[in-house]
Amino acid sequence: MFNILTLNKIAKCGLDQLNDNYKITDDANVDADGIILRSFKMHDMELPESLKAVARAGAGTNNIPIDKCSEKGIVVFNTPGANANAVKELVILGLLISSRKVTAAIDWAKTLKGKGDEVGKLVEKGKSQFVGPEIMGKKLGVIGLGAIGVLVADAAIALGMEVYGYDPYVSVDAAWRLSSHVKHIKNVEDIYKECDYITVHVPALDSTKGMINKDAFAMMKDGVKILNFARDILVNDDDMIEALASGKVAKYVTDFPNAKIAGVDNVITLPHLGASTEESEDNCAVMAVKEIVDFIEN
Ligand code: MLT
Repeated sequence: MFNILTLNKIAKCGLDQLNDNYKITDDANVDADGIILRSFKMHDMELPESLKAVARAGAGTNNIPIDKCSEKGIVVFNTPGANANAVKELVILGLLISSRKVTAAIDWAKTLKGKGDEVGKLVEKGKSQFVGPEIMGKKLGVIGLGAIGVLVADAAIALGMEVYGYDPYVSVDAAWRLSSHVKHIKNVEDIYKECDYITVHVPALDSTKGMINKDAFAMMKDGVKILNFARDILVNDDDMIEALASGKVAKYVTDFPNAKIAGVDNVITLPHLGASTEESEDNCAVMAVKEIVDFIEN
């Protein structure tokens, strides 16, 4: 019998893959053989001697102490690609809501409640304040061409954007999936200099922390729009606030609100919704469970 500890809610269709040889528990005091989690932060957790493998139902592994696990011979899995479509769809939304002032327009339209027959007239008079550009024909820079970045790049091509892709570590598989219309950029600075929209899809590592900072902003076009559906620490928040205040950055759409950035003018924050679709939660759970079982049994 193997104990599988879940540290977050994991989709049932994933856990259903475990047969009678496995006991699923959320009691952190059991001697777990495997751990399955989403965003639970494991850094302060005592790792049981019995632990053989950890599976993150998601792409990022920055909530897992990988060094500590490696020292103890505990294997760490993630589920690359399993939630990529869900994130891609939200990035496309990010492109659109950073263009026309959709979020402000929705709030404003709510204020028309109770205005009776005047509503039609008020709409036509008020709408000009929410005008914005189309994305077709604009330049999108995609930094990081993993499972998510590739889908975003290909979808943006389909929407008529000119897409610049940068990833010095692109895999052969990802390269095969990438549209041949995506411009291969060898120096990230060319993305900063050329693009109207920039979206980051890289992991949170010491080497990527704060990569979107004042030096990067200095190279960017005035009025650039930045999208961050990867991790908050990729962006230097103080530099971002300055760039927004000066108009260098017109909009910052982030899936990671924090104390500094939430509520700042021209920041659109979503509550880490990237992977929050039923489909993606199912895909991630199934992949994570299969990885753990394969490792334990084979
Ligand atoms: C990811 O790293 O793939 C996402 O953060 C997953 C999630 O939202 O749970």
